[in-house]
Amino acid sequence: VVAKRGYHEKVIDHYENPRNVGTLNKNSPDVGTGLVGAPACGDVMKLQIQVDDAGIITDVKFKTFGCGSAIASSSYMTERVRGLSLDEAGGIKNTEIAKELCLPPVKLHCSMLAEDAIRSAIKDYRSKRTKATGTTTANV
Ligand code: FES
Ligand code: FES
Repeated sequence: VVAKRGYHEKVIDHYENPRNVGTLNKNSPDVGTGLVGAPACGDVMKLQIQVDDAGIITDVKFKTFGCGSAIASSSYMTERVRGLSLDEAGGIKNTEIAKELCLPPVKLHCSMLAEDAIRSAIKDYRSKRTKATGTTTANV
């Protein structure tokens, strides 16, 4: 169903009622932070994950300065990755988000921002863990 201004109603819903807006403590060892920008438009997305010892994402928060599709994409992503392993979450493609939210081709880069953001958050978490456990130098 296409809502006004050509946005699909799922986009409107995530835009008007975004899920999991907020911030996690970026200094916590359990939290990974991804901060990415879209060169095409200057929009910025911050996505944070909280990860338990088993490597499962237990909490997710985002803040997005950007268009409705970017906000909807990040909102959708936070719901999608909760309860997933890092590998599962890192495998989510922007095309899935775009399809789920019925984004038009011109808005594909908005969903790309969400894919970049979760990858960046996972990378940040992993590099923190590596530092904390000293595994960078462990396998000598
Ligand atoms: Fe950035 Fe769409 S161009 S809000
Ligand atoms: Fe740039 Fe949506 S993120 S127009």
